[in-house]
Amino acid sequence: FINTKLTGKKVLITLGATIEAIDPVRFISNHSSGKMGMALVNACIEMGASVTCIYGNITTILNPKSNNIPIISAQQMHTKVMDNITGQDIFIACAAVSDFFVKNAKNQKIKKDGKNLILELLPNKDILADVCKLKEKPICIGFAAETQNTLKKAKKKLKNKGCDAIILNDVSNAYFGFNVDENEVVFLSQNLNKKIAKKSKKKVAKKILEIFIKECL
Ligand code: C5P
Repeated sequence: FINTKLTGKKVLITLGATIEAIDPVRFISNHSSGKMGMALVNACIEMGASVTCIYGNITTILNPKSNNIPIISAQQMHTKVMDNITGQDIFIACAAVSDFFVKNAKNQKIKKDGKNLILELLPNKDILADVCKLKEKPICIGFAAETQNTLKKAKKKLKNKGCDAIILNDVSNAYFGFNVDENEVVFLSQNLNKKIAKKSKKKVAKKILEIFIKECL
């Protein structure tokens, strides 16, 4: 039995970690592997959707059936999302986007000179929030990786970003959820608060989409 409930739908998914250059050899990034995002890409394709995948640094393999667009930095991800968002029915922001970029990143390798080095970080634009502000906005799902007061923070995120659903990932437990093959999440929308118990990311992805189709589509 194949679920084809996304046939004819266009889905844009961001995934993986963005990389913010300090100089040509050093960068700031995070632990995201892109595995949860790729599980969603694969599940959407299986369900008949036409998928665009905008990906940063990942440790998992791409699906050749999606339109795969690589990016390095959060700024590049923002540009590529905005270039491709028109006509999309669903936007899933699964990427771990760096909140900051390095002001005055250097073109040459920074040399040590025995003194302190101070990096100034400037805030990156919020891609998900910007998509949610579009006049013709797709239905938007965001992710929230939290370590404290997780439910409260995720609910606030749902409201502040203006998205239709938030998938809460409790990462307080030794990076549970990052770079592993299993996940446990809570699906949050205005009317729903539904726990998806620990299982493979493949199964979690299917469950997220099942609930999403029922609740939001
Ligand atoms: O605010 P926070 O980073 O916790 O929000 C996480 C959600 O917002 C994720 O869905 C992430 O992909 C998205 N996000 C984004 N652009 C940013 C920061 C986060 O799209 N600059």
